[in-house]
Amino acid sequence: QRDIPALKDVLGFTIGTAVQRPQTLGEHGELLRRHFESVTPGNQLKWDATEPREGEFTFAEGDHLVDYAHANGLKVRGHTLAWHSQTPDWVFEGTKADVLRRLENHIRAVAGRYKGRLYAWDVVNEVVDENQPDGLRRSKWFQTTGLDYIRTAFRVAREVDPDAKLYINDYNTEFPRKRRALYELVRKLRAEGVPIDGVGHQLHVNIEQPHASEIEETIELIAGLGVDQQVTELDVSVYTDFVQSYPEIPAALLLKQGHRYKEIFDVFRRQSGHLNSVTLWGLADDDTWLSTFPITRLNAPLLFDDRLQAKPAYWGVADPARLE
Ligand code: G3I
Repeated sequence: QRDIPALKDVLGFTIGTAVQRPQTLGEHGELLRRHFESVTPGNQLKWDATEPREGEFTFAEGDHLVDYAHANGLKVRGHTLAWHSQTPDWVFEGTKADVLRRLENHIRAVAGRYKGRLYAWDVVNEVVDENQPDGLRRSKWFQTTGLDYIRTAFRVAREVDPDAKLYINDYNTEFPRKRRALYELVRKLRAEGVPIDGVGHQLHVNIEQPHASEIEETIELIAGLGVDQQVTELDVSVYTDFVQSYPEIPAALLLKQGHRYKEIFDVFRRQSGHLNSVTLWGLADDDTWLSTFPITRLNAPLLFDDRLQAKPAYWGVADPARLE
């Protein structure tokens, strides 16, 4: 495995992965440092991890990853300052002013701690709901503050860490109605002066859906807003529904996945003028959220297998000529 090309040497944009502490150690750490240029803390900077009780901050896990990254020449994407999930209930108690004050304090503390050390922040995560007439998710954030939590989050993040690029991040952005709702929201907020620098596309896709051309259409539409774009959480599930389950993933499916990664990275290569980084949501198949969600079953959505060996998916990204 040490003689295969390093991903970071063969791509025209920054390549990253989500990381938990175990992936910085031993052979995982070796693989991480060899192939990747950027890391995203998968859970360590979320609200429940950094401020479990009001005003009580815990930064041990975040510090570990940020220090590790800087010691090893890796950039860090911050994830995430305002989300409806993994956020304690006390945040939403009281009046609108109480909620916005807690949000501001949280961002001052968390973004302030890492000021100048992160190249991007997912300031808000998953705020769009294309099934609402106004395209806005009915989260507790929205129910207590309307759009003001988004305005506050970006304003405070900009003030606290002016060098970090500030992102609005979401999933399913490759679907036509969601892409349109996201586009309209970003256009409206930027027209008001809300400092949104970029759009993050999570891109949790599967082996068949969505069509690669949908991904490309989204990147081209959002490019019209004049914002930066990143792919922030890429993985390719081997399942196309919630009932399939393999005790072992068939080799033919892994090969198909390799071709699927190739077609997706072909889009990224073509669109590299609009995309400045692509992050996978995990280093290897031994640790992926998709093996527990939406049900517990073996999944294998990443580039390296559970023994950290390169899969056809890796070759689809690094050197498609070697896919057979
Ligand atoms: O830390 C506890 C541990 O103490 C406990 O024993 C264990 C048993 O359940 O749970 C551990 O917490 C888990 C945590 O991951 C850390 O591993 C949570 O249950 C689990 O729900 C949590 O899942 C995370 C998920 O976000 C939660 O929404 C995934 O790791 C993380 O990869 C995933 O990431 C999200 C992005 O932030 C946003 N986009 C979607 C993406 C995938 O769901």
